[in-house]
Amino acid sequence: MHSSNAEIPALSPAFTNLAQAKYQDEQSAARQIQDACQLSAEQSLRADAMGHLLSQKLRIARQNQAGIDNLLSQYPLSTPAGRALLNLAEAALRIPDHFQLDQFIEEQLHAADWHQHRGHSPSWLINFATLGLDLAESTHTPLTTPIFREAIKQALRLLASQFVIAEDITAALQAQNPDFRYSFDMLGEAALSPEEASVYLERYTQAIHQVGAYSQGAGQFGPAVSIKLSALCHKFDFLHYQQVHTELYPRLYQLALIAKQYDIGLTIDAEESHRQLLTLSLFERLMAEPDLLNWSGLGIAVQAYQKNALQVVKWLSQSTRQQHRAITVRLVKGAYWDSEIKWAQQAGLANYPVWTNKTLTDQSYLACARILLQAENRIFAQFATHNAFTLSTIHQMAGAQNCEFQALFGMGETLYQLAHELGIERPCRLYAPVGAHKELLPYLVRRFLENGANTSFVHQVLAEATRPELSNSASQHTLRQPNKLFLPRVSPALSDLHHWPDFIRLREDLNAQKKQRYIALPSNYIDTDGNTHLKTITNPALTTEIVGQYAETAFNEIETAFHTAELAQKKWQALGVSARAVLLEACADALEAKRVLLLDLLIREAGKTPINALQEFREAVDFCRYYAAQARSDWQHSCPAALGIVVAISPWNFPLAIFVGQIASALLAGNTVIAKPAPETPLIAAQAIECFYQAGIEPQVVQLLLGGESWVRL
Ligand code: FAD
Ligand code: 2OP
Repeated sequence: MHSSNAEIPALSPAFTNLAQAKYQDEQSAARQIQDACQLSAEQSLRADAMGHLLSQKLRIARQNQAGIDNLLSQYPLSTPAGRALLNLAEAALRIPDHFQLDQFIEEQLHAADWHQHRGHSPSWLINFATLGLDLAESTHTPLTTPIFREAIKQALRLLASQFVIAEDITAALQAQNPDFRYSFDMLGEAALSPEEASVYLERYTQAIHQVGAYSQGAGQFGPAVSIKLSALCHKFDFLHYQQVHTELYPRLYQLALIAKQYDIGLTIDAEESHRQLLTLSLFERLMAEPDLLNWSGLGIAVQAYQKNALQVVKWLSQSTRQQHRAITVRLVKGAYWDSEIKWAQQAGLANYPVWTNKTLTDQSYLACARILLQAENRIFAQFATHNAFTLSTIHQMAGAQNCEFQALFGMGETLYQLAHELGIERPCRLYAPVGAHKELLPYLVRRFLENGANTSFVHQVLAEATRPELSNSASQHTLRQPNKLFLPRVSPALSDLHHWPDFIRLREDLNAQKKQRYIALPSNYIDTDGNTHLKTITNPALTTEIVGQYAETAFNEIETAFHTAELAQKKWQALGVSARAVLLEACADALEAKRVLLLDLLIREAGKTPINALQEFREAVDFCRYYAAQARSDWQHSCPAALGIVVAISPWNFPLAIFVGQIASALLAGNTVIAKPAPETPLIAAQAIECFYQAGIEPQVVQLLLGGESWVRL
């Protein structure tokens, strides 16, 4: 693979353990956390009673507020109205010109029946908003458009401002409520360029200085700062391991040194699952820095929805013991659940990295909490939750131990004020985003999802019909494994290149394959001159590297190919759809068996990145299985008449997927095929054709013609 990737080190035993646990089978992993999260009967009863009481009070208190939770309780994300609101919130403030914005607003307004929601919310403000949306939709005219446009933009700004404490850190420090502690988050994530990362670094640096000066040595009791590593480096992913360790790490270390100098807390947020082990590898280095040893404000967030969360907290506990140092750990459930599920499905992985059942996330949270509390003298535990049941259970579990709760600004204040009134004296720290609206978008979408999800406590507590239960929350659908989403079609077993062990394995396989030189010969090829006229293919990324050679089809052989195809077509058609589908599935198997070889060629002949190569490989295999499945179901009784001979000419940009897809579809319909790949990628084509033959399809049924420069000249 790419040379900078070659420097990704092998896994240490500790990280092997974390990595293995990441994609473990859900059922067996569940047993570990279920054993670890039990409370005594008395504690459970108390926690349950307190949870119910808090929920009731919270429901009453929230009903008259106009928060996003109330809005999404009226407009769940599973309805057209909820989706229209999410779309508006996500995009409206970013559309620069009025014409596009008006069209977009109009489209969203028409997507839902606002009228039916009128007067249905206990909150008069939400009812008022509904009235506005209904009127906007029904009385929309060119004259009223600018008024509604401004009103909707203003409403969205208002909605967004629920989550942002202030636009800059100076104002944020002034806006603190003395009932809470604070951790300030400078909005911004997933930097796209080095310049953007520098801007975020500067903002964090300034924020830490200002928070530090304000704190005046209050340590754990004073305000803190939260950071997102994806803001600090535009290549914050596993494939840039070296770059992350040489460029991002010094920045992170500097920020930590400044925070230490003021003795304030600095917590690294947990982001997407594919960044988890990379983040931990950076944190491991920070924990070992001699200059940071006498500082207990170094912190990290752990997401309980990760299947390896328990292993992560055990590792943190063990590392702090070995290093004789203290850290803070913020335990969250995790904010990227929907995305994690979608990504795993898109990649066709064998397993999800996160629990697929909300109850398991709740149990994992408690199991992790117990480990953190057991490490009390080395780990200051920070329990971030908006769930009254999680709150009361942790309160029971922690007993007299020192720890704090955390909540998001704009989401958790009421709950913790109520908890305080009911005698839960533990401090609560608010995670308070600071910044401009344009930076808020991803954060806002996560809050929409959190408030709108059926499984979410904040959503359930407002839904009168449902009693929120910690251990039995909402009806849970069982999710199919990501690669079995389209059963009976199973996705090919793929590597997750952002997963350390998969990366190392694939790198070894590809390195072993790299020395191979390939030869591609067209159908009906006759060697007349000892192969002296073979043409050479070089690696487009390294033009001195020869990948293989190929022979062009001579012109007089083209006619022969058509003749052969014509003779073979009747017999092929007579085989029937089912038999052809079986052969195409066998071709998918043959492609899978050549996985490493085809990936090698996609990278070295077509110049693809390893990730693109994997995606293309998957698509090619999937084409065969998908078409076979479709043909079986749609053409069971009558198959459309075949065309006869199909000439499949494919482009260079998807030399495997489009090449195979064109051939597979034409074959299934009973045609014989003459396939002609782009001149740049004959080697991939020849290997793919070989797979059709290995599957049992006769060489007369699908033939390969190779034409390069000399064809173009004619
Ligand atoms: P609950 O309603 O009890 O739990 C909702 C959560 O359960 C979802 O968010 C999801 O994690 C999980 N879930 C939902 N459906 C399913 C399902 N079907 N299967 C499995 N699990 C499911 N999040 C981060 O990712 N990184 C951070 O660094 C981070 N920092 C935070 C800091 C603070 C102070 C707070 C309060 C939150 C932070 N969050 C962070 C967001 C946090 O992840 C969510 O607020 C949290 O998941 C909501 O959990 P809950 O206990 O409040 O609510
Ligand atoms: C998020 O950004 C709070 O870190 C959490 O969604």
